[in-house]
Amino acid sequence: MISAVHAGTSRSLLLARLTDARSRTDALFDLVSPARLSERPIPERHRFVFYLGHLEAFDWNLLRPRIDSRRAASELDALFAFGIDPVGGGLPDEAASAWPDLARIRAYNDDVRHTLDALLPNALDAERFGEHRDDASTAFLVDVAIEHRLMHAETLAYMINQSSVARRIRHTVPAPPVERRNELVRIPAGEATLGVDRDARVFAWDNEHDAHRVAVPEFAISRCMIDNGAFLEFVEDAGYATREWWSDADWAWRERNRVSHPAFWVELDRRWYWKSLTELIPLPHDWPVYVSHAEASAYARWAGLALPTEAEWHRAAYGTPDGVERAYPWGPAAPDARRGNFDFRSWEPRSVDAHRDGDSAFGVRGLVGNGWEWTSTTFAPFPGFEPFSFYPGYSADFFDGQHYVAKGGSALTAAPMLRRSFRNWFQPHYPYVYAGFRCVAR
Ligand SMILES: [Fe+2]
Repeated sequence: MISAVHAGTSRSLLLARLTDARSRTDALFDLVSPARLSERPIPERHRFVFYLGHLEAFDWNLLRPRIDSRRAASELDALFAFGIDPVGGGLPDEAASAWPDLARIRAYNDDVRHTLDALLPNALDAERFGEHRDDASTAFLVDVAIEHRLMHAETLAYMINQSSVARRIRHTVPAPPVERRNELVRIPAGEATLGVDRDARVFAWDNEHDAHRVAVPEFAISRCMIDNGAFLEFVEDAGYATREWWSDADWAWRERNRVSHPAFWVELDRRWYWKSLTELIPLPHDWPVYVSHAEASAYARWAGLALPTEAEWHRAAYGTPDGVERAYPWGPAAPDARRGNFDFRSWEPRSVDAHRDGDSAFGVRGLVGNGWEWTSTTFAPFPGFEPFSFYPGYSADFFDGQHYVAKGGSALTAAPMLRRSFRNWFQPHYPYVYAGFRCVAR
């Protein structure tokens, strides 16, 4: 049973958040010209065009049972229903011509939005806003639609980084190299609370329940995320060619795909550039490096260190010397621009050393925003986990030991998903996400 959760939240605020989420994905699709919609910049994902229809189809399939609509079913409802996350092969390979033309998708999207906007207010009122029927209120499902869309906004963005949209070179004079030290910060032994209470009055996905406490032995963790400059040392030290830094599976992936540098980097005329959303820019050494779990693990081994566990990351981020845990690394205040690089304020990363006002109680910097952070913890259910009845595979399909938890959020992570209990997860051989890492010593 999912508790009713929207006390103090008005219906109009919820619907305004849905409208705002639509504007985020619309703005990103505006970067992709119609001619590029059939591109598939990441082999594991669909062509851009799928996502254009998927967001509306998902909202419709989720919310249709809650509204009194006479809208006729469309074959696009099913065509655009599901995304993919293939493990071990089985990449999508349909022809571009398998998808409807742009005008038809736009008409479908307009129809779905119009119908939902016309009927959702009544549906929300009918359940006396905030109450639930069946096992999830309509308001809760609108939150599901919002977070689903915002997560796709981030996915869409990193697909654009890998596409042909931005291949113009920005000619800037590179900043002179700065001597940087990313020292390890000691975190004393203590407890970390993972997850969130089922009766907490906040939206949470199924994998965030139940809250539980974990003992964490003393460790030390990088003050800042590993940046491009530090990772370049690993690259130049033949890190990608040195077998001993890689696990068997990670080495096999690296060999099979001839991976020799981060997916966000490109080498032109013996110079490194970074693939932004709009152009190629000289590699910013002080931005966090974005790499796969496999590459992060290899770097950590090369450095004589390791990736943090999910519990260690929590302890470094939310723990305090007096044992009280914080809602955010900096304290109870809601996320704002001073605390970190998140919530679409920028479409690019910033220095790993920026945002000192976001430091944790232990002085660890940049934990929330500016890039997800890999942990060494495989994605698995917390004690008391129950799948959502309306979306049973959302998390459970990925409890396969082949996905790792990432925490923290990126520049394109919406503010609600910066909550402490939010967990992201990816395959270890997926290098396209805005995900970096820091290291620990134990
Ligand atoms: Fe989706």
